[in-house]
Amino acid sequence: MSHTMHFHVLTLFPEMVSQGLSESILGRAARKGCIELETVNIRDYTINKHKKVDDYPYGGGAGMLMQAQPVFDACMDVEKKIEMRRNAERTAGNAETAAGIAETSAAGEASGNDKDAACREKSPLRVIYVTPQGKVFTQQMAQEFAREEDLIFLCGHYEGVDERVLEEIVTDYVSIGDYVLTGGELPAMVMIDAISRMVPGVLKNEESAETESFCDGLLEYPQYTRPEVWKDRRVPSVLLSGDHVRIEKWRLEQSLERTRQRRPGLYEAYTRRDRAVSYLSKDRLSHMDMLEVIKRGQADVVRAEETGVLLYDRPSGAWMLSASDEDMGERLLSEIPRGKDELFAVHQSFLKESIARRFHRDRVSECMQAVYARKLPPACRARFGIRPLEAQDVDAVYENYHAVHSRDYLLERIEAGEMFGIDADGRLAAFAGMHDEGSMGMLEVLPEYRRMGMAEALEAYLITQQLEKGYVPFCQIFDGNEPSLCLQKKLGLKIASGRLYWIS
Ligand code: ADE
Repeated sequence: MSHTMHFHVLTLFPEMVSQGLSESILGRAARKGCIELETVNIRDYTINKHKKVDDYPYGGGAGMLMQAQPVFDACMDVEKKIEMRRNAERTAGNAETAAGIAETSAAGEASGNDKDAACREKSPLRVIYVTPQGKVFTQQMAQEFAREEDLIFLCGHYEGVDERVLEEIVTDYVSIGDYVLTGGELPAMVMIDAISRMVPGVLKNEESAETESFCDGLLEYPQYTRPEVWKDRRVPSVLLSGDHVRIEKWRLEQSLERTRQRRPGLYEAYTRRDRAVSYLSKDRLSHMDMLEVIKRGQADVVRAEETGVLLYDRPSGAWMLSASDEDMGERLLSEIPRGKDELFAVHQSFLKESIARRFHRDRVSECMQAVYARKLPPACRARFGIRPLEAQDVDAVYENYHAVHSRDYLLERIEAGEMFGIDADGRLAAFAGMHDEGSMGMLEVLPEYRRMGMAEALEAYLITQQLEKGYVPFCQIFDGNEPSLCLQKKLGLKIASGRLYWIS
């Protein structure tokens, strides 16, 4: 089940934004309820009796600056309204649960209520200030923002905005490119358009969001429509052949060639990714962690050779490595800049030793990787009510989870809507969740509730969620954790032959 994506735009020119986004696909999406646009006139919030919102910069200089007070008050009002709406939705959701709808089958029908509630835990709200001084907006950022339920855009005008209010409210500074426009409205509209396309239900054919330019890192191939001949130019004959295998091959070649010529940087990144995938696919099960972070678009392929791959996973900050010989291992390690607290996931024990030498790291957890290679979720008979965890559950999780993660990390996972639990006798009896790099884990059942099927139900629930997102579910079993190994086998996960070492 999909939820509505709510855009809130703080601007001095609300009509420019609402009119610009009311036509065509986004207009239709708004009427269908896939997206909702709220424009907020910052001027309505000024306490100045002449409705003034700007003033001269201290220290002199050209132009005027937007003042802090109206911007801040407008933003607070929007945040308050979002909070109220979310509470109302939560209450409505709980009422449904009470009516007996959300008794969740772990094996499959994760109810829409549960999933939506999980999304709602994703505060804090993101406030995007559109500015040429921001990080340049990309398709990847559009995908990331599309996972939020609410986005607040602040559009600047004149020469800018008082820095103090930016420090107070802004979470993301984003630019749409290296040029300067007269205001933030057009950039906000550009971003809203790109983000909306990624929201389920906005595009008619959901596939089109997947296959067009950029999703796989290549530019789109050339397209043709009738007539077959125009100004003596013929449509390429392969497209008239009806041979779909040849057509697909031709299109890929065209995409590659176009990207190579027009966007050499993108082409280089694509070929690196391609080389990485072909090395890692030689042992898919052992490398599923690395293959998945590439596929999910969350990793940078820093280096990819025939005999080794180095990735940087952005969400976890982990360096992921695999090399078929020690020489390549050393070459990959030499690419890693020295930081304060590097985290590594490596696939060979010689890499573990080199890292200890180079980075003075010796906290090593040895794991086996388990992969759910099927397309359908596991059959799981036990039925429990599974709910997303909330911030107040963190202590129960921290006290009962027998592994290395900090309380802060567990809280972050809960707040990201990535941890789930089962209650019994009025308390949290079992929990599990998704790690930031994308593996399933943090599974624990309190001793008195073991052997009832709670672990199986929770993992089956996570597997189902992962499959729905088009991911291959995987997890890592610490050396010696026999109960976990048994559970993985029971649920149908395959155990990889290679080892994996987490080093921190
Ligand atoms: N405001 C003015 N120019 C801009 C740009 N290039 N990107 C985002 N916001 C802007």
